[in-house]
Order: sequence, then structure tokens, then C-alpha cells
Amino acid sequence: MEALRLERVRQQLDELGLDALFITNAFNRRYLTGFTGSSGYVLITKEKALLFTDFRYSSQAAEQAKAYEIVQHAIKPAESILEAIQSLGVKKLGFEKNNVTFAAYTGYQEQFPGIELVPTENIVEKLRGIKDEKELGYIRNAVKITELAFEHILGILKPGISERDVSAELEYFMRKNGATSSAYSTIVASGERSALPHGLASDKLLAANEFVTLDFGASYEGYCSDLTRTVFIGKPTDNHKEIYRIVLEANRATLAGLKPGMSGKEGDSLARDIIAGYGYGVFFGHGLGHAFGLEIHEPMRLSQQSEDILQPGMVMTVEPGIYIPGFGGVRIEDDFVVTETGIEVLMKSNKELIVL
Ligand code: GLY
Ligand code: MN
Ligand code: MN
Repeated sequence: MEALRLERVRQQLDELGLDALFITNAFNRRYLTGFTGSSGYVLITKEKALLFTDFRYSSQAAEQAKAYEIVQHAIKPAESILEAIQSLGVKKLGFEKNNVTFAAYTGYQEQFPGIELVPTENIVEKLRGIKDEKELGYIRNAVKITELAFEHILGILKPGISERDVSAELEYFMRKNGATSSAYSTIVASGERSALPHGLASDKLLAANEFVTLDFGASYEGYCSDLTRTVFIGKPTDNHKEIYRIVLEANRATLAGLKPGMSGKEGDSLARDIIAGYGYGVFFGHGLGHAFGLEIHEPMRLSQQSEDILQPGMVMTVEPGIYIPGFGGVRIEDDFVVTETGIEVLMKSNKELIVL
């Protein structure tokens, strides 16, 4: 698997006329090498693949990154990297421009004299955009854990419990059921707070006659899942029911309409046109969805700005919402994988309005 990924990077070296690619993004490092440690640098030339890391990780790197030559770098990593660059005859060195600070870049200019530094963008991220069967298996597992946690939490939600306690319970449950961690900071937003699209769990207590939006995910073998459900405690008014129904219609219509070859903008419109058609367009102020995998937000987007094209193997979310300040909000988020002919929805959790 790592050998295939390496081959794909090497094709890019040829296309871009580079002698080597220098990788500093931690997710890209993990994807390419299999090494899960927190520190390391990857250098790929047409013939060689090197993983530089420090004393803490040398043995682990040798164990995990079998397709790479492991170099335990000097106290100053740049010294070891320069040595390799020079001995391999690298003149044009691609670096990941979205992952290098100004300080690091000016440092490379000084530390790598005579080397042409060439900014590159999303070389590895594009490969990561198409998931293989092993990655899909991890994502399916993360989804399963997340859905179990949703089932579990329904028995716990009641007036008087704090949003923070709900998030702690969700995260504990996911850990107990095989997750290494949560995929991101859990959102529990109740009452008026449910109008905050990213309302992290607070000390607010759940109360009767309010929406509760739960947005959470698991990380399994490094891969994320991403689920949102909005439930109601008490007795919903017609207004509550109406916005829920519209968001659900937008969610379902999108999942029914997405297919390979469609642009991110066209996908976004599937939901946005429905919400806008009911007069709530102004209350849906974020994009419809995003790719995820090792990271919870990966570059491909479903949004009005997105010209990305859906391709088989992409894994993304659909998360329409309506957020009304002072009243509350609803978001319903599912994950899907693009297939050759359409999409497969990964979530099975109930999405009819659950009233507790
Ligand atoms: N809370 C992160 C997301 O759903 O995108
Ligand atoms: Mn989410
Ligand atoms: Mn999401």
C-alpha cells in the first residue's frame, strides 16, 4: 500500500519536474509512511524514500514505515536533511507550501544553500482524497462507534444534565467502544445555543422544549467519522417542526441526488435551493459538506465556491442546517462515499425528529 502511494508521488515528481518532495504535514507523513509518531520529515526522490525522525521514534518508525529508510536526525533536523539532499543530488526540492511557516521557509533558504525551493500544493492531499478499501473499513468502523454512541446518549438526554456532561459521556462511550479519541471537539448545543453552528458543549443545562444538536465523531486507526443529529426535548412547536422538516428534506434530497462527476457547487445547490425555496436561505450560512479521512476537514468541499468534482472513493459529509438566532437551530449530518454510479450513505441512524 505504501509502495503504491510512493509510486503516485513519484509520478508527480516527474510531472512537476522536481528532484524530490519534502513533506512536513503530519497527516501526509502518516498516510505515506504508516508512521504514527508525532515528529518526522519525509524526503522522496525518484529512487529513495527517507523518513527522518528523532531518538524517541527510531524503533517505532522502523517498525511502521517499512517502505522507507529511517534516518535518526541530528539535534538540528535540517543538518541531516541537507546531507541527504546533497548526497542524492537534489537540486529542485518541492515543499508543501500550505504547511510551512514563514520562519521555516526562510530557515530552509539558509539551511539548504544552492537548492531551489519549489512550492507545491495538495500533492498528497489529492491522493488522500480517494480512499482505498482499508481506509474505508476504518471509516466504517468509526461511523459504527459513533452511531452506537448516539443510540446510547438518547437514553441519557434529559432536562438538568449539562451539555458538558453529555459531551463527556459521548466521548467516554466512544473510547470504551474502540475509538482512540473523538474526531474533534464534541458539539452539544441546546436551546438558543443550537443556533450556533459550532456551539461547543458548555455548562448550560438541557431544558424542556428545546432542540439539542449533537455533532461528534470517533477516530479509529486515525480515521474520522462525522455525525450530527438534532433532537427535541419536550413538545416541539410548529416552528420547530417546520425547520426540522426542511433540513431533513434538504439532507435527503442531497443524498438522493449526489453522483460522481458532479461539482461541489452543484452538490451544495441540491440542499441550498430547497432551504432557500422555503425562505430560510439566509439562515444556512455555511457550506453543505466536506471531505474527511485522517483529518476531519480535508480539502474537497460541497459549497458554492467549490469546483471540485466528485469521484469514486471520495468520502464526505452532507450537513445542511438552519440556524435562527434567539430561537435555535437544526443540523442533520451524514457521511457518504462516492461510488462508480452514485453514493453510498454510511450512516444508518434515525433522522426523523426524535422527541424525548
Ligand atoms: N463539527 C465539525 C463538522 O461537522 O464539520
Ligand atoms: Mn460534524
Ligand atoms: Mn462535518
